[in-house]
Amino acid sequence: MATTLTVNGERRVSARGPMTALIDVLRDEFFLTGAKSVCREGACGACTVHVDGQPVVSCLAPIGTLEGREIRTVESLAEASEPSALQQIMEEHDVVQCGMCFPGILMVLTGFLRECPHAGRDEIKAALVGNICRCTGYERLVDAAAALARRN
Ligand code: FES
Ligand code: FES
Repeated sequence: MATTLTVNGERRVSARGPMTALIDVLRDEFFLTGAKSVCREGACGACTVHVDGQPVVSCLAPIGTLEGREIRTVESLAEASEPSALQQIMEEHDVVQCGMCFPGILMVLTGFLRECPHAGRDEIKAALVGNICRCTGYERLVDAAAALARRN
């Protein structure tokens, strides 16, 4: 049974069944490989995308629940090939190490800073409680997000 999804503003049709995890459709069928499939049990945040503007771990999101909803992946953050302000400040602070955690962190922080544009370090840390960075680069990325919040 086909499932129609709206991904980054485009209608896409998946041939997979309704219980298929969104991460598998994004990566294997639509070739949107930004979101990473790591723990597959909702514990690491690497697969985070936005559904109707809210962060969702796509490893636990069956596509059958997502018809008619707006899915956005990390690929949508850059506009006209220009990195978002968050992506730019992360680069300025030399945050990324292996990068496995990073698409999920970007999606969480993008949503969080939209809602709390003047957040401080403690709030930013709390927002990232569901995101694990195995390279343990937390301090620099919190520094970068806090620096962006001070510019807002
Ligand atoms: S792969 Fe989805 S939370 Fe880890
Ligand atoms: S940069 Fe390697 S897991 Fe976070």
